[in-house]
Amino acid sequence: MSQKNEFTLQQLLERVNSRRRSGDAGSDRVRTITARIVGDLFRAIDDLDVSADEFWAASDWLSRLGASGQMGLITAGLGFDRLLDIRDDEADRAAGRATGTPRAIEGPLYIAGAPLSRYEARVDEEGEQIPGEVMVMEGVVRDAQGRPVAGALVDVWHANEKGRYSHFDPDQKEFALRRRIETDAQGRYRFRSYLPPGYEIPPVGPTAELFQALGRHGNRPAHIHFLIAAPGQRVLTTQVNLPGDTFIDDDFAFATRDGLVVTLEPGTPAAGYESLGISAPFTRVQFDFTMQVARDEEESKPLARMARAVG
Ligand SMILES: [Fe+2]
Repeated sequence: MSQKNEFTLQQLLERVNSRRRSGDAGSDRVRTITARIVGDLFRAIDDLDVSADEFWAASDWLSRLGASGQMGLITAGLGFDRLLDIRDDEADRAAGRATGTPRAIEGPLYIAGAPLSRYEARVDEEGEQIPGEVMVMEGVVRDAQGRPVAGALVDVWHANEKGRYSHFDPDQKEFALRRRIETDAQGRYRFRSYLPPGYEIPPVGPTAELFQALGRHGNRPAHIHFLIAAPGQRVLTTQVNLPGDTFIDDDFAFATRDGLVVTLEPGTPAAGYESLGISAPFTRVQFDFTMQVARDEEESKPLARMARAVG
């Protein structure tokens, strides 16, 4: 009797990866990537002797991960976000492109459409009690030749004093600690806020579960996010880190970069900063951003990662 439907692992894999409905072109790229990933997982299950119970526990975890909205924490925590930056850096080097300010991961907590102002803004909420050390961050956005970029859009966002981000935290106002600033004719921006703390992944949920099983912490050091866009310039997604944080070289998302740790200038006199409501010495942070020349229009579109991927 011929055996049409009894397979070895390898025969099953070949069938899974070669099935096609006749006349349906599908996507060769999706087929290639899926075949590779399924093949790698088949081999991992076989090599590591993964039991059925372990497999279904993992399947359940993935279902809960998707439902929890924490996929972006897992991609960062397992190094995928930084991997993409490393690959972009390598591609830049290979192509001989001037790199400018180092890129750093966007993270999953960006929200488009924050209030826009020209040259300067208060990123913290005016009139509320200030929950941290008053900070003004300022600098110039430059192109690869060092020339100021006028009209660049500097999108800035950071966590509150509890390490939480507006939109994802129901206790904060819409767009709290999120602003867009358009650089002036000299390419300058400046904003007032307070020095944010670091933060930790939610203590309960699929991310915490995996990290507990891995014996890892889920802490990020204090940082401020930026997404900067200007016509003809490649969008720059980056972060700056505040010095002195316990986790600065032990970020669970592996996002700290040596060129992005800023210097704090405490005790900076208030003169010249009155328009930001400052009347006492404060902590200044000076940081210039250098952008890359966009290779095409697509690279200069001011899109966040998901909008770029699915838009
Ligand atoms: Fe963040």
